[in-house]
Amino acid sequence: MRIDIITIFPNMFSAVLDESILKRAQAKGKVKILVHDLRRYSLDKHHKVDDRPFGGGSGMLMQAEPIFRAVESIKKKLKAKPEVVLLCPQGDQFTQKRAKELSKCKNLILICGHYEGVDDRVREHLADLEISIGDYVLTGGELPAMVLVDSVVRLIPGVLGDKNSLNFESFEGNLLEYPQYSRPAKFRSWSVPKVLVSGAHDKISAWQRVEAVRRTRQRRPDLLKK
Ligand SMILES: C[S@@+](CC[C@H](N)C(=O)[O-])C[C@H]1O[C@@H](n2cnc3c(N)ncnc32)[C@H](O)[C@@H]1O
Repeated sequence: MRIDIITIFPNMFSAVLDESILKRAQAKGKVKILVHDLRRYSLDKHHKVDDRPFGGGSGMLMQAEPIFRAVESIKKKLKAKPEVVLLCPQGDQFTQKRAKELSKCKNLILICGHYEGVDDRVREHLADLEISIGDYVLTGGELPAMVLVDSVVRLIPGVLGDKNSLNFESFEGNLLEYPQYSRPAKFRSWSVPKVLVSGAHDKISAWQRVEAVRRTRQRRPDLLKK
């Protein structure tokens, strides 16, 4: 997979992309992630990429032209048609299901907005998808893009060491994950459930299933209805 990220703050990304699983995924060749400085695509001599909104209103909007130029230039370098994603608080809510779908794409182009947002012609005529990471407003699309990249890349086959860690995660089969414990079996006065140290694998699996359902019913009954 190749992911191209368009942003006015390219330096924000290295802290996330150059560490841990994302770093290893790139080193193993599972994903190529390129961060593009939008200002390079500006035709303005001062590399300006924003302007005042028509009709008035506070703040500045990111202009359509540099964003179209950036996406069109990236597209020329790709062999497969990319999915162009605009990070946007008004977009479809990001979910594990959407992360799985995107993890099957060959090419993703992520557009990070800033200021008061992005000229609406980007949404209308350039983006294939608009994605929101939740019902709150951030200063820019950089953190949402990092959230998306992290959740998508870990789903690419071979990126996580232990394949099973994907099978029993929260949201698989519309369940939250069961509670988990590590050593020591007794910490202060709290012992782990006896069944987990019994060595009886079928009993452990049954316990985990029951606890996953219990936890989902308590915390996210909406998932069970699905
Ligand atoms: C301050 S926000 C613009 C908000 C816009 N004025 C509105 O009210 O809908 C600037 C940029 O941050 C990004 N952003 C902010 N919150 C987001 C969210 N919840 N999900 C995805 N992107 C978000 C988008 O790229 C957006 O263009």
